[in-house]
Amino acid sequence: MTKRYKVWVSRPLFAEALARLDQHVTLDAEAIERVHAPEQLRERLAGVDAAIVSLSDRVDAATLAGNGRLRVIANLAVGYNNLDIEALTRAGVLACNTPDVLNETTADYAWALMLAAARRVGAAERWLRAGHWTGAMRFDDWLGVDLHGKTLGILGMGRIGQAVARRASGFDMRVLYHNRSRLPESIERQCAARWVDQATLLRESDHLVLVLPYTPENHHVIGAAELAQMKRGSVLVNIARGGLVDEAALATALVSGQLAAAGLDVYEDEPAVHPALLELEQVVLSPHMGSASADTRRNMAQLAVDNVLAGLGLGSQAGHPPTPINPQVLHARGVLDKA
Ligand code: DGY
Repeated sequence: MTKRYKVWVSRPLFAEALARLDQHVTLDAEAIERVHAPEQLRERLAGVDAAIVSLSDRVDAATLAGNGRLRVIANLAVGYNNLDIEALTRAGVLACNTPDVLNETTADYAWALMLAAARRVGAAERWLRAGHWTGAMRFDDWLGVDLHGKTLGILGMGRIGQAVARRASGFDMRVLYHNRSRLPESIERQCAARWVDQATLLRESDHLVLVLPYTPENHHVIGAAELAQMKRGSVLVNIARGGLVDEAALATALVSGQLAAAGLDVYEDEPAVHPALLELEQVVLSPHMGSASADTRRNMAQLAVDNVLAGLGLGSQAGHPPTPINPQVLHARGVLDKA
């Protein structure tokens, strides 16, 4: 079969996903993990018809300037704040992401962080491994914050937020959420969750989980003022995007005891972590791995491949990419007519 299209994969990916691409296109897959400088990214994208990229690849108008070839960008993530969707749409490039396949895994991880932060799992493990458990332990050592019977607040009640909420019934928690728009009653019932305004959410939550997409409008949606509004001694968990939280203000709130603990999977300036947070035992830190289970990462890779192939008009879903972000491009540019 003559391979008409060239596809670049910006990071090492599972062999089975690459093998599927390789059947249909000429493949150029990076063999080592790296962060691509804007100019490198521009060059790589200039020579291909489609690319699978990750969150560290920022694709904007400058990256696309002069690129008349690119048709599809498939992001290996559900969040796509690394993509300038307006610029991609203007350039006639179809953008796709990987929603849904990671909902349950990411929700599991929100609970892992919530439990670890509230019950001081990270600090206790470090203490034990350092050989400090040498004698009797005080009865009032390692006191944490309960989850059962408390109030869980969810800021951002999309599909992952809903999956976080559904798990709360096992902990006998009251669930409040805030979203710009209230969910249909049927979904609220499934999640046993009640809509409240943001101020109420901050004031009443014992555990607050951030699950909302990051946009310039919600930069530092949790800043010093919001942290001050939160219940004293509560726990904050961020599995969404680092820019939602003012990290310096969070460190101050933790030091003062306004917050008991925090669980963070995402950071304002990844891979850097605010130095003040690194100093604090009451913060559980992980390296943006919320969706990282073996099954889910494999499913994300396969979904990105589906999007690339279908966006190029190839394979069994030709013309119908499963999860487009800007589907109008398919019609406006006649991407598929040209395939
Ligand atoms: C996503 O998919 O947006 C996650 O943050 C990446 O793991």
